[in-house]
Amino acid sequence: MMIYESTRENIEKAARVILDGRLVSFPTETVYGLGGNSLDPKAVARIFEAKARPSFDPLITHIAELEMLDRIADVKSSRTFDIIERFWPGSLTLIVPKRDIIPDIVTSGLDTMAVRMPDHPTALELIRLSSGAVAAPSANPFGYLSPTTAAHVDELLGDKIEMVLEGGTCRIGVESTVLDVTGERPIVLRPGGIALETIRELIPDVGIFNRETTSPTAPGQLKMHYSPTRPLHIVDSVNLVSERERCGALLFKDGPDVSGFSAVEILSPEGDPVEAAARLFVALHNLDRAGIDRIYAEKIPEEGLGRAVMDRIYKASEK
Ligand code: TXA
Ligand code: MG
Repeated sequence: MMIYESTRENIEKAARVILDGRLVSFPTETVYGLGGNSLDPKAVARIFEAKARPSFDPLITHIAELEMLDRIADVKSSRTFDIIERFWPGSLTLIVPKRDIIPDIVTSGLDTMAVRMPDHPTALELIRLSSGAVAAPSANPFGYLSPTTAAHVDELLGDKIEMVLEGGTCRIGVESTVLDVTGERPIVLRPGGIALETIRELIPDVGIFNRETTSPTAPGQLKMHYSPTRPLHIVDSVNLVSERERCGALLFKDGPDVSGFSAVEILSPEGDPVEAAARLFVALHNLDRAGIDRIYAEKIPEEGLGRAVMDRIYKASEK
């Protein structure tokens, strides 16, 4: 695979690859996606093959124009259009009823689909110049950490895809928030790039899927997601950890005594959860490559994007 600058010419070339039923990795504001034509079942099958992903985990379809939403999904509720108006383009994925034009392989046979309009110029141009509906999971092998740089994608899937469009380090750094709007009350299925508090401003009664009390069979709640290769343990403070040689520390902010650790990553020296989200996957990728035996991760407050960060840290700790 090759990393291509996101010039108009290269985005056109990538769009032809997608229209040809093959795969392109592209940047979004959250993480890099592994994209294929959402309207072409064979292209979508190639995504599952490249990721070695169980086909029961459904994909997000990315769009660039609202007209496309009406072609692929059956959205009627004015509340859903209010949500779209407020958050698109952006890091909010909506679960809505699908139309027949979306092949079953995209949704793993569900009659609902996941759709979002990413807030990234390269992604939007690629979608517009190709099929207008691009299915894309995060561009990592199934169960591994999501990529937030083109180099991550190259390292993880380089031999399986033809092109990755360069977009630098992803601005948000954690995946989109998944909001199910098919029921009476909207429910956050996956915390992500748009904070729960921000959604509450528009939908005060929004529910949240609870990972402690609900079975992990619901889509998006499979265990062993986002895991580094090294075991990761969650601690209240690394100050209490005595095993430090050949160990890595993942800290929210400056302060704790990290002497003796073989590798240290600080998500945000000042303790800003937005910055922590943007650096999380880079930090985990770095620790996973530091030649250590295990990682100790400190808890971070579950407020704002801190909720998405802790969700990913919990998932990274599950083996
Ligand atoms: O930020 C993102 O969302 C990135 C970028 C590339 O857009 N994409 C991403 O895709 O994270 P993926 O495939 O790694 O995660 C899609 C999530 C999964 O948790 C999946 O279970 C959920 O969306 N999902 C997809 N379709 C669904 C459906 N019909 N009902 C419930 N959940 C669904
Ligand atoms: Mg993923």
